[in-house]
Amino acid sequence: MDSIKVGLLGLGVVGGGTYKVLARNAQEIARRAGRKIEVSRVAVRDVAKARKLLGSDLVVGVDPFEVVRDPSIDIVVELIGGDTLARELVLEAIAQGKHVVTANKALLAKYGTEIFAAASARGVMVAFEAAVAGGIPIIKAIREGLTANRIEWVAGIINGTTNFILSEMRARGLPFATVLAEAQKLGYAEADPTFDIEGVDAAHKLTLLASLAFGIPVQFDKAYIEGISQLAAEDIKLAERLGYRIKLLGITKRRPEGIELRVHPALVPVKSLLANVEGAMNAVLVCGDAVGQTLYYGKGAGEEPTASAVVADLVDVTRLHTADPEHRVPHLAFQPDAMSDTPILSIDDVVTSYYLRLTVADRPGVLAELARVLADAKISIGSMIQQPAEQGADAELIFLTHEAIERNVKAAIIKIEALPFVRSRVTRLRMESLA
Ligand code: NDP
Ligand code: HSE
Repeated sequence: MDSIKVGLLGLGVVGGGTYKVLARNAQEIARRAGRKIEVSRVAVRDVAKARKLLGSDLVVGVDPFEVVRDPSIDIVVELIGGDTLARELVLEAIAQGKHVVTANKALLAKYGTEIFAAASARGVMVAFEAAVAGGIPIIKAIREGLTANRIEWVAGIINGTTNFILSEMRARGLPFATVLAEAQKLGYAEADPTFDIEGVDAAHKLTLLASLAFGIPVQFDKAYIEGISQLAAEDIKLAERLGYRIKLLGITKRRPEGIELRVHPALVPVKSLLANVEGAMNAVLVCGDAVGQTLYYGKGAGEEPTASAVVADLVDVTRLHTADPEHRVPHLAFQPDAMSDTPILSIDDVVTSYYLRLTVADRPGVLAELARVLADAKISIGSMIQQPAEQGADAELIFLTHEAIERNVKAAIIKIEALPFVRSRVTRLRMESLA
């Protein structure tokens, strides 16, 4: 059988890795796919740089639309990134009747509804395993392996850069900026690393996971997003002393009133599996009603781990290339006409435990008053620690609460910060046991 022809858009970290893995494992991949998968055209900005990596017989150009419109190309692999040019290219590839493989979570989290609808109408596939958790086949697991289940929640560490930063800061005491620069050098970070640091990249991925888990449309605009830039080194240390570790988590949970969709730093018990996921590794826990909890762990970013997912998609698309579109696995796991309109809940409705840290004047009645504000807001204290603050007459208090409604916690914090003996803002971090 003739080889399947791939047009590769972008030859950076992931594009370069994809090219290398396809070349190195060509025979093994052909045995699995049933035919050879051949990159026959590439588009980049810097042709001379690309030439150093590629064989000389490959067509390399600077116009990605030429690749997308080339009638000999069967599959377009979009590895440019961003959501402007990439969106135009993907929609054009679909219009040209080509299957698409992409690692672009930013694109799909924002324009997934439009892109999947266009692909279904044209009878082509859009595969995106590399868009979530790099090399971990989490999309395949949720979309295919767990189809028997009513999925209850999905939670995990889905951004390698921030997990690398938090791990290095905690274990080696390195400053934030130094570790971020290292993550960029290693090819983990997004072109704009604020996407990583501010939790946006994790929210892109979580949006896709929520759609796959619950059969809801992609709704990135409704995700609650809080990154790690405001995290104090002091809280990382204190969490450790209290038996917790701080991780940037993505959590999406089915509740009777709607679906939680949130990314934020959280304290997780130090003995939990997620607490021990270090460096650029990712881990995703999925809880289904039949299977219980399952855990998926692996490299969440970088050249070849991400290429592993891109190439797996290429093999899938090659195998199904000529299959009847009606019989393919739906893009978002559920049939397009069976999507649910369950609402996404506001962060105010989230129920979890909290870590609250504040500095107060160290004098009689202070604790009693704080306890009353918390009790009035229906917040129950699980434990409390008092330690001397830097200012001699002040004390630092840390409250760990039982589960409470975020709206109540916010209201209590406003009241606490207005009390005359409170000397600092209240640091509020969520706690997740994921039991
Ligand atoms: P890079 O910046 O390393 O690579 C981008 C590539 O796109 C480069 O080859 C660049 O060409 C090319 N490019 C950019 N603009 C154009 C254009 N106008 N025309 C033609 N080519 C263009 O990005 P990554 O490989 O890191 O990321 C690619 C995608 O994969 C993104 O969507 C990212 O979110 C996603 N991703 C990345 C992961 C990672 O670990 N890095 C993991 C999972 C997903 P040139 O080199 O000539 O400038
Ligand atoms: N910037 C992303 C990360 C790449 O750090 O996880 C993988 O999606």
